[in-house]
Amino acid sequence: MIKTVSVIGAGTMGNGIAHVFAQHGFKVNLIDLSTPQLNKAMATIEKNLDRQVAKGSITEEVKARTLANIATMESLAGVKDSDLVVEAATENTDLKLSIFKQIDEAAPEGCILASNTSSISITKIAAVTKRPGQVIGMHFMNPVPVMKLVEVINGYATEKEVTGTIVELSKTLNKIPCVVNDYPGFIANRILMPMINEAIFSLYESVAGVEEIDTVMKLGMAHPMGPLQLADFIGLDVCLSILDVLHKGFGNPKYAPCPLLVNMVMAGKLGAKTGEGFYKYAQGSKDLVVSARFR
Ligand code: CAA
Repeated sequence: MIKTVSVIGAGTMGNGIAHVFAQHGFKVNLIDLSTPQLNKAMATIEKNLDRQVAKGSITEEVKARTLANIATMESLAGVKDSDLVVEAATENTDLKLSIFKQIDEAAPEGCILASNTSSISITKIAAVTKRPGQVIGMHFMNPVPVMKLVEVINGYATEKEVTGTIVELSKTLNKIPCVVNDYPGFIANRILMPMINEAIFSLYESVAGVEEIDTVMKLGMAHPMGPLQLADFIGLDVCLSILDVLHKGFGNPKYAPCPLLVNMVMAGKLGAKTGEGFYKYAQGSKDLVVSARFR
C-alpha cells in the first residue's frame, strides 16, 4: 500500500509530480537542497491548481487539500517514512547515482525507488543500490498535471510485483501507464528525439524556416506543438544530452546530434527557460516569435 511518496527535486518535473500525487490523496514530501527552489515549486503548484479551479476541473476544497498534502524538506533523510521515492533531480548521471546511494540507505525496507529519468539507464541506477529489484523508471511527461502518459521502465532486475504496483499506482493518478524495457531512450525519447533532431537538421540545411517546419508538423500531423517549439519547451540542453545517450548507447551515427543544436547549447540558447532558442520568449507573452537568428 503506497501512502507516502517522497519526490526528490523541486524543478519543473518534481513540482508537477508532487502536484499530481498530492491531488490524488497521497502524502508528499517534496525534497530539494535549495529552499528558494522549494518556495518557487510551491508557488508554481498553487498557480497550476488555481488554473484547474478556474477551469472547473477541481474545487477550492481539492486545491486546499492538495496543498496541505505537501510537506517541503531540504534533506534526503526525509525519505525515511516513505513507501515510494520518485527522483526527479537534474538529468546528470553522477548526481542521480549519488542520490540513489543515499536514498537506498535512508529509505525503509520495501520502499520502491523510482526515477523520472528521461534517458539514464535504470539498470545502472539500480546497480548502486542494495535493492535493484525495487528500482524502476517512472517517466512522467511535461506538463505533468496535463499529460496522460507514465512510461514505466523495467530495469534488468526490476521485480514483476514492483512493476505491477507502479502500473496500478499510475492508474490511481488518472494516468495511462505503458511498460517498456530499459534500453537507451526507452520508447518516448528513442522516437521523439530523432524527430526533433531531424527537424533541426532540416533548418540547418535550409530546407525550410522555423515556422514552416513547425507548421507542417502541427497542421499536417496534428501535433500540439511543432518539433522546434517542443525542443525549446523541453530544453535544448536536455535534447542534446538525450541524443548523446542514444548515440553512445547504440553506437549508431543516425543519432548524432545536429551541429546547430550543439552550437545553440554552447551559446546558452537553451529554449524557453533561457528566453531564447528557436523562438524568443518574452515574460508573460504567449506569442510565438521566431528568434532573430532564424529570420
Ligand atoms: N498544470 C495544470 N494544467 C495545465 C498546465 C499545468 N502546468 N499547463 C497547461 N495546463 C492546462 C490548461 O489549463 C488547459 O486546460 P483545459 O484543456 O482544461 O483548457 C490545457 O492544459 C491546455 O493548456 P493551454 O490552453 O494553456 O495551452 P495549449 O492548448 O497550447 O496546451 C500544452 C499546452 C498542453 C503544453 C500543449 O501545447 C502540448 O500538449 N504540448 C506538447 C507537450 C509534450 O509533448 N510534452 C512532452 C514533452 S517530452 C517530456 O516531457 C519528456 C522527456 O523525456 C523529454
